[in-house]
Amino acid sequence: MCGIVGYVGEQECAEILVDGLKRLEYRGYDSAGIAVFQNGKITVEKSKGKLADLEKKMENGKKPHGNCGIGHTRWATHGEPSDINSHPHGNKRVTIVHNGIIENYKQIKDFLISQGYGFESETDTETVAKMLDYYYDGNPIETISKMIDKVNGSYALGILFRDFPDTIFAIRKESPLIVGLGKNENFIASDMTPILKYTKDYYLLEQGEIAVITAKEVKIYNTEEELIQKEVLTADWDADAAEKGGYEHFMLKEINEQPTAIKTTIAPRIQDGMPYLEESGLTMEMLKNYRRIFVVACGTAMHAGLVGKYIIEKLARVEVTVDIASEFRYRDPLIEKEDLVILVSQSGETADTAAALALAKERGAATLAIVNVKGSRIAREADVVIYTHAGPEISVASTKAYSVQLSVMYLIAFELAYAKGVISKERCMELTKSLMEIPDKLNEALALKERCQFIASRLVNAESLLYIGRGLDYALSMEGSLKLKEISYIHSESYAAGELKHGTISLVTDEMPVIAVATQSNLLEKTISNVKEVKARGAKVVVICTNDVEIGKDVANHLIQLPKMEDMLMPLLAAIPMQYIAYYTAVLKGCDVDQPRNLAKSVTVE
Ligand code: G6P
Repeated sequence: MCGIVGYVGEQECAEILVDGLKRLEYRGYDSAGIAVFQNGKITVEKSKGKLADLEKKMENGKKPHGNCGIGHTRWATHGEPSDINSHPHGNKRVTIVHNGIIENYKQIKDFLISQGYGFESETDTETVAKMLDYYYDGNPIETISKMIDKVNGSYALGILFRDFPDTIFAIRKESPLIVGLGKNENFIASDMTPILKYTKDYYLLEQGEIAVITAKEVKIYNTEEELIQKEVLTADWDADAAEKGGYEHFMLKEINEQPTAIKTTIAPRIQDGMPYLEESGLTMEMLKNYRRIFVVACGTAMHAGLVGKYIIEKLARVEVTVDIASEFRYRDPLIEKEDLVILVSQSGETADTAAALALAKERGAATLAIVNVKGSRIAREADVVIYTHAGPEISVASTKAYSVQLSVMYLIAFELAYAKGVISKERCMELTKSLMEIPDKLNEALALKERCQFIASRLVNAESLLYIGRGLDYALSMEGSLKLKEISYIHSESYAAGELKHGTISLVTDEMPVIAVATQSNLLEKTISNVKEVKARGAKVVVICTNDVEIGKDVANHLIQLPKMEDMLMPLLAAIPMQYIAYYTAVLKGCDVDQPRNLAKSVTVE
């Protein structure tokens, strides 16, 4: 959702701000703007639409000149996307950009109106800007502290005070914000992607800390307004990781990065052929004593949890409940102290997942976060964190983050099963070895690209599609269906193959293609029977199975055959054709693959 960048240094900042915002486009947005100190005054340019619209607006000499400024991409929450509602907001004295939601903005607005303030936008952000102006007494730190006391909600703010030229003030509560440390130039940003090409060093702002940033120095104050020293962190993502690297889209690049992402994620967690999660603080002793496991997440991350449920229950015989975070947090779940709650999140910032984590902690359960972005909110708040090492995932549709989340689920399942004494050390080593072979096998699956591209050409005109599968294949097909609908806008549904007969089969005609996932050998015959049922009703069927089975033309119109591995590991391989099919269908339909309409990469509001 909303993205923030800020620059102060020796260079012209408007280009740097717009370039930085382009790198945050993936978070999802519908308008953009910048504010720059120009000859001692704050000059604002903003526009509804894409960054190209903002750039157009700044053509013909309208681009503000200066070396210090803040920029923003807005994902509308309060008020429709419009020029007026776009950030920055404020007046001549204080100008801000904001990511998050101000819950009590209505009360603040009413109060400020009673004090004579006028408002031009419908945003919650403008109330914060005007409130800062109201409290402003010449001392920005004091002013910001007074504002913090009055405002409820989540926020990351970049602030310019006219009286403090070439200085950026920044603060965060819940919403992400980092301060990038360059040479004679410094930055603020929602994440590392806009600043990686300038520096890898950064400060992670903690709740309530106030940063005062000039070209030469960064000062951080704690909530007591005392100057503090903070540890400088160094990003381990290289600058190329946030570039397309010759691929047409980030999504295609990220699909192809999966072998490396998995290797990098599992290698440090395997020792002497056995899973080794202790470096993250998760010991065998802890693992074996949990009574039940809850996996809580949103979107694709929740789908990774569904696969996790199947494998943990099957291997370790421990009960696992998977919840959508927005449901979990309000359903008064039966979690207890002996339970483990696993939060899965690529960004580590998803508001509902973070709220679920807070609830789990409140109930005294142990919490484990599987997160990709270092230092993110969920990673910092959970008792234990296992980082996935996928590198930055820029495409809104998640691919490599899903695979690395799955690979961590496998390691947990293997270790837990061994810790519980349900599987022998030999079996645990055998499974771990198979997992280590996955990156090579994935390359074979990635070679199916043209086949998937051809199949996409057969699906592109469909109005609706059905994904079916049983067991793990069903869990995986949910992700396949989500991938297709989010980027190609073709409606699709995923269904347990055996349940079709109880209603959904009535939808099947020759106009509804069916993608059947049939990689589980013990369920193959059953799934094929269901395939025959839909085929008999006219559906064109794509079957995704392993390369050791024979399936005739009378059963499948199109076949995708994957290298055969342990049944349990097949979701990692079968995800690839699903991702490719969604990708090529979206490309053929001319959709904006990396930034699908209405979606945001990082959903920081409820
Ligand atoms: C958004 C993204 C999805 C993602 C979900 C959860 O909906 O578009 O790709 O799966 O959020 O995000 P998280 O960062 O918590 O994994």
